[in-house]
Amino acid sequence: MKTNVWILIAVLALAWANMVVSYSSESDDDDNELTDEDLCDEGAPMDVETHNSLKCSCTTSYIVTSPDQHSYNRLFKKIDKLKACRDCSTIKRAFTDVLLIVSIETTEKCAIKLAKKGYLVEENSVQEVGAALPTLPVKLLDRIDQVDLPRDGASYDRNDATDVTIFILDTGVLFTHDEFTNGRVSFYNDTVTPNSPIMVDVNGHGTRCASVAAGANIGVAQGATVESIRVAGSDGLAAADDVLAGLDDIQRWWNSNPGSKCVVSYSLISTSFSTTLNYAFGNLSANTDCVVVVAAGNQGADISMADACNYSPSGSPDVITVGGSRNRMNGASDDRIGISNYGPCVDIYAPARNIDLAAPSGSSNSNYLRSSGTSFATPAVAGAAAMILSTTSLTPTGSETMTDLVLDILIATSAKDKLTSLPASNAAVLPSNNRLLNVVSNTYYA
Ligand SMILES: *[C@@H]1O[C@H](CO)[C@@H](O)[C@H](O)[C@H]1NC(C)=O
Ligand SMILES: *[C@@H]1O[C@H](CO)[C@@H](O)[C@H](O)[C@H]1NC(C)=O
Repeated sequence: MKTNVWILIAVLALAWANMVVSYSSESDDDDNELTDEDLCDEGAPMDVETHNSLKCSCTTSYIVTSPDQHSYNRLFKKIDKLKACRDCSTIKRAFTDVLLIVSIETTEKCAIKLAKKGYLVEENSVQEVGAALPTLPVKLLDRIDQVDLPRDGASYDRNDATDVTIFILDTGVLFTHDEFTNGRVSFYNDTVTPNSPIMVDVNGHGTRCASVAAGANIGVAQGATVESIRVAGSDGLAAADDVLAGLDDIQRWWNSNPGSKCVVSYSLISTSFSTTLNYAFGNLSANTDCVVVVAAGNQGADISMADACNYSPSGSPDVITVGGSRNRMNGASDDRIGISNYGPCVDIYAPARNIDLAAPSGSSNSNYLRSSGTSFATPAVAGAAAMILSTTSLTPTGSETMTDLVLDILIATSAKDKLTSLPASNAAVLPSNNRLLNVVSNTYYA
């Protein structure tokens, strides 16, 4: 009898100890990482009308898929249990027919917590939040024209790279947008339906990317020429063969325009490794003087999926792979945006959070929105690459490519060690390069 009681107490004590350990690690986590900025990010969408149960204005929309597919009560309970989620989440919609999926509006912090608990969490990427030209300089430009925070708010004044062509392989571009006046942006091809080419942006993503690369007000290389190659559909998905066709187009363009200054910006994200895609992007970089820039991907919230080396073309050693930083406000330090993939294949980071973007909306040519992801860090680096090409005369020798030479300059001029909690070496992912894009003054490159 006595023995039994002691056993029971021991078991209870163990259970209690376990609870305390897991609970305190969770709340520690919150206390260490949750800042006011996380909770109420500047300019994040707030819509009191439709999200009236929100307790703060700090919401991003995410799609959450339950791993066990049991019930969404369980998912609701989980959201309620996590402090980071409970204080600032609204369930928007639930889907049950194909998979058990819910869309929620919440903080990035909550999204990361859910991902750590095994839920598949992706940003619900289309967020129309405004129609007016944002205040200039936009946050991204204000961050990348200086090494240290705080942002100085000074106007962005850099070389326009008018002699460089940037290819955007994406969903098409709304080339009538105010950001792209004077015919700087044009339709080059549609590899999806080449026989009846669609000359608009079928999704919006391509216009957003083009505006970061070369927008007249909000872009990095504000005078560059943009050629749009549509390789993806209205769902934002691309078939590999349509992408390969787009790379072929660029190779042929180069063959008939040898010596031209060109950059390829590719913000589509694969979820698997493809030797074919790695080879194709690598060969384009090796066989032309086009600088090839690609996105690291947005699976970084889950450590088992965070290594950019495991995807394509981000895992190719022959391209410039771009991760996303948090585009911080004054007073805070820079960091990786939680969804950005990382690891040794990421060459450089650029702002990726709440980026101001041009966006198609009905017949409007003056619509803007904010969104997040490595998709938008990528064209920022592509724009910087265009400026480097425009202000230098680089000649690759031997097995060097123009991509290599431009990457060397991007690295030399980058702001070093700014990302404060870039994951260190661990069992799953090797250490990342801690470099943040810094677009130096015009004369530096000359
Ligand atoms: C456009 O794409 C189609 C299909 O891939 C290809 O046959 C055609 O040559 C491309 N046009 C240009 C200008 O590259
Ligand atoms: C180009 O493709 C071939 C395979 O066709 C591959 O062996 C080679 O490594 C690729 N080059 C680069 C730079 O990726």
